[in-house]
Amino acid sequence: MTSLLIRGRLLSFKRAPLSRDDAASYSYEPDGAVLVVDGTIRASGSYGEVIEEAEDGVPEVDHRPHLILPGFIDTHLHFPQMQVIGSYAANLLEWLNTYTFIEEQRFADPAHGARIAVRFFDEMLRHGTTTAVANCSVHKASADAFFAESLKRNMRMIAGKVMMDRNAPEALRDTARSGYDDTKQVISDWHGKGRNHVAITPRFAITSTPEQMEASGALAREYPDLHVQTHLSENREEIEFTCSLYPDAKDYTDIYDRYGLLGPKSLFGHCIHLSDREADVMSESGSVAVHCPTSNLFLGSGLFPLRRLTQREKPVRVAFATDIGGGTSYSMLRTLDEAYKIQQLLGERLNPFESFYFATLGNAEALSLSDRIGTLEPGTDADLVVLNAAATPAMALKMEAVSTLSEELFLLQTLGDDRSVVETYVAGKASKSTIGIAG
Ligand code: GUN
Ligand code: ZN
Repeated sequence: MTSLLIRGRLLSFKRAPLSRDDAASYSYEPDGAVLVVDGTIRASGSYGEVIEEAEDGVPEVDHRPHLILPGFIDTHLHFPQMQVIGSYAANLLEWLNTYTFIEEQRFADPAHGARIAVRFFDEMLRHGTTTAVANCSVHKASADAFFAESLKRNMRMIAGKVMMDRNAPEALRDTARSGYDDTKQVISDWHGKGRNHVAITPRFAITSTPEQMEASGALAREYPDLHVQTHLSENREEIEFTCSLYPDAKDYTDIYDRYGLLGPKSLFGHCIHLSDREADVMSESGSVAVHCPTSNLFLGSGLFPLRRLTQREKPVRVAFATDIGGGTSYSMLRTLDEAYKIQQLLGERLNPFESFYFATLGNAEALSLSDRIGTLEPGTDADLVVLNAAATPAMALKMEAVSTLSEELFLLQTLGDDRSVVETYVAGKASKSTIGIAG
């Protein structure tokens, strides 16, 4: 049995905060501790109470005055796009065709996938992200590389081999049959190994034939517990092209609906331009709209209507994500900052408690994984991030003027990035020190 007592200021959420004053939505311990036993949180709360539960002589790490939160959760990104970030393009379809569909071909080579996987997990840990939902490339080898590295690091990751059988270079196309077979193989090789979860991953309706959509739906029926991830309603041109490929569908969302791909485990990247009918269907099926703010701004895709989706008679479940490499930062702090600015442009407010809720418990709930991650509740995985709101000279100076937790969180999201991440714990193991050792 290995135990560790991690001391610091604790913040974790109980539910979505309704306002900046909604103190009942979170718990905050100014002198708190998390007791970890064999990778799981045994107790958390005030230091005085938690120390009572620890065995004598338990090793202790003191992170005061820093903040300890559940590790960040990133609900949508692309593992093979680490070298696509920052590619100059006018819009989504140009960006995909000019850079992305070229770069992803390199992942046919297992050695390339293995090298990038090491860098990918290093970057996650550097940024305090302990769970991510990843699209791999079309090649099964890319999913193998991803999951092998995830297993090595004992991280709770969700990922899938992308299925795409049209409207992409030949080297990046599978078939309805091979996409189905390879996905089944990935599931049997990796799902449930360590903390790995496999997601059924048709890239989007443009790159899948009706036969492949059928096959994706068949997988979703065969494995109802698995997540489904894809893209929806990101860009006006994309929507028009998609609907032209499926002329019988009522709209873009209806395409996925017809193939049985909506549901509480289904994650739809972007969802910027949904009609009321589409939002109703998303809501009724419990599907999740994944907001990717840095990507939406970078590609000029549009402003995510957070309030229109969440504050309606039939609310849509929402999660936040980086969307690397359409997204421009691995940092969930940078992502929260851009999400805030998008709501500013829409004349809406996003308060700092709500933002940090999304990066932790909110995203865990969207993944139906809040019994394991996104919280400091006893019995859950000890995946933690330790944050310093005075990590840079500019932050330290501003920190002099900060007097409330809300202001501190807002400073962290406005000026913070990987420099604010003091430590990242994966199943109770301090992991930042391992960055750069492998590969
Ligand atoms: N739609 C289909 N594929 C992609 C992708 O790789 N990135 C983004 N942002 N949108 C997509
Ligand atoms: Zn994406």
